[in-house]
Amino acid sequence: MPTAESIHPDLESILIAESAIKRRIKRLSGEIKKVYGDEEITVISIINGAILFTADLLRQIDNPLRLDCIRVSSYGNKTKSVGTPQLIHSLTLDIANRHVLLIDDILDTGKTISMVVGLIQKLNPASVKTCVLLDKHGRREVPFAADFVGFQIPDKFVVGYGLDFAERYRNLPCIGVLKPHLQNPPEWA
Ligand code: IMP
Ligand code: MG
Repeated sequence: MPTAESIHPDLESILIAESAIKRRIKRLSGEIKKVYGDEEITVISIINGAILFTADLLRQIDNPLRLDCIRVSSYGNKTKSVGTPQLIHSLTLDIANRHVLLIDDILDTGKTISMVVGLIQKLNPASVKTCVLLDKHGRREVPFAADFVGFQIPDKFVVGYGLDFAERYRNLPCIGVLKPHLQNPPEWA
């Protein structure tokens, strides 16, 4: 098993190993298939964070499938969400009467996903379900429960496997906790 230090010197610890992510994604794809049967799914991935998760998850789902991406303003260089998330790049696919599966990397305060779900619902889809790799349940400010959750995690700022701090660390193969002195603001330590 690789150590946090060997994966990246800025990591304090590994929260979820690469092998555990792979195993969970296999099971998660089974849960998704069970719900959708052979129906076509229109997947909407919230980029950049959900890119790696979406790519690995979709390779395990053999339904007819359409993929679109949506971009929402992020934290910038902070580890705390600031204000209301803003839509930066919208959908290109028509989703009216389609079964939409919205994918994000992490459900934290709930502001981002509830804003995007509200937006999608205005476009009259047949259904909307949500799938997140990580759920920091204790941090919710807007009540929201995702339909499919990879892992429940504690209130720690995590990076890797798509998740960033100031756009860094997205390419790490595991989910790790950033060393406290590298986080901003420091009270997140
Ligand atoms: P929410 O709107 O507070 O639920 O935050 C969702 C977004 O915040 C996610 O899509 C992530 O981009 C970002 N985020 C929340 N917690 C973390 C974290 O621990 N590490 C990296 N990004 C995070
Ligand atoms: Mg992000």
